Amino acid sequence: MGNFLDGKVVAVTGAGRGIGRAVALACAAEGAQVVVNDYGVSIEGGEPSSEVAEAVVKEIAAAGGEAVAVADDVSTMAGGQRIVDTALERYGRLDGVVCVAGILRERMLFNMSEEEWDPVVATHLKGTFTVFRAASAVMRRQRSGTLIGFTSGNHQGSVAQANYASAKGGIISLVRSAALGLHKYGVTANCVAPVARTRMSANVPMELKEIGEPGDVAALVVYLLSERARAERITGQVYTIAGPKIAVWAQPRELRAGYAEGAWTPEKIADFLPGTVGTDPMPMLAQLEAMAQAAADGRRPNA
Ligand SMILES: NC(=O)c1ccc[n+]([C@@H]2O[C@H](COP(=O)([O-])OP(=O)(O)OC[C@H]3O[C@@H](n4cnc5c(N)ncnc54)[C@H](O)[C@@H]3O)[C@@H](O)[C@H]2O)c1
Repeated sequence: MGNFLDGKVVAVTGAGRGIGRAVALACAAEGAQVVVNDYGVSIEGGEPSSEVAEAVVKEIAAAGGEAVAVADDVSTMAGGQRIVDTALERYGRLDGVVCVAGILRERMLFNMSEEEWDPVVATHLKGTFTVFRAASAVMRRQRSGTLIGFTSGNHQGSVAQANYASAKGGIISLVRSAALGLHKYGVTANCVAPVARTRMSANVPMELKEIGEPGDVAALVVYLLSERARAERITGQVYTIAGPKIAVWAQPRELRAGYAEGAWTPEKIADFLPGTVGTDPMPMLAQLEAMAQAAADGRRPNA
């Protein structure tokens, strides 16, 4: 056991499987007391079971750590509140929350139903809000704490997961808003875009060139929760971890601007925009075209 998180209390959502489980185990191994939340659902979000969270609590206890299970659904306000209340009731404080819970319901945009959109956005985006909302009130009083959201490279856009990509983009904006709104209270907020072998990544229809294990992602999360990261004042950042690679994403910013003399008209814009402001090519579109070419050539597409 290390001591990166000695004396800290950390709540992890979606901690029953995959990356969340690895994060919960690593936090406990580094000395944290852990609230293990998992609704215990299928990849699509059905058939809840409380056994999934309890099994991870048993694993932590068997390794000599301290943890408590909460089997609530993070997409409800009551679920988010219960996760935070459990930390306070059981351990007296809350130093970090890590919102990992997620589901998938893939469909092309033109066929996507409300039943495919709403639960995905509710689990990822609202499920981060419900926990951040309850935790930030505690951390503001404590004048310390760390919020961590989980996004995906797919926040750039996705062919068959408009629901998931939209939620993941929203999580980045939520994290940056938390970083700004809680800065003066000593609370940091960051986002992780992982690539790791789990049941969720198993069905990706392409060869991933850069992929790692849930344990790699857990190591990054432990660091972000630690005093070492807080001392570096890391906040409002998005990090990818994919096997041996760690990358930081750019902050969104204006790329090029032009100014009109007098009011804009569609005619003036048509003459001015293409040559002066132009476009910023989509890397994902270029990748899509390369994949289509690979498929046409009979090669297995990779990304
Ligand atoms: N695995 C990857 O390569 C990858 C890539 C990009 C992003 N992510 C993101 O990382 C996170 C973890 O993914 P994973 O691959 O470990 O998935 P996973 O399916 O292995 O684990 C997700 C866990 O979340 C739980 N969960 C689902 N809905 C819940 C709810 N409403 N309340 C509480 N718990 C709930 C599930 O029961 C499950 O145990 C997700 O947010 C995912 O979108 C993963």
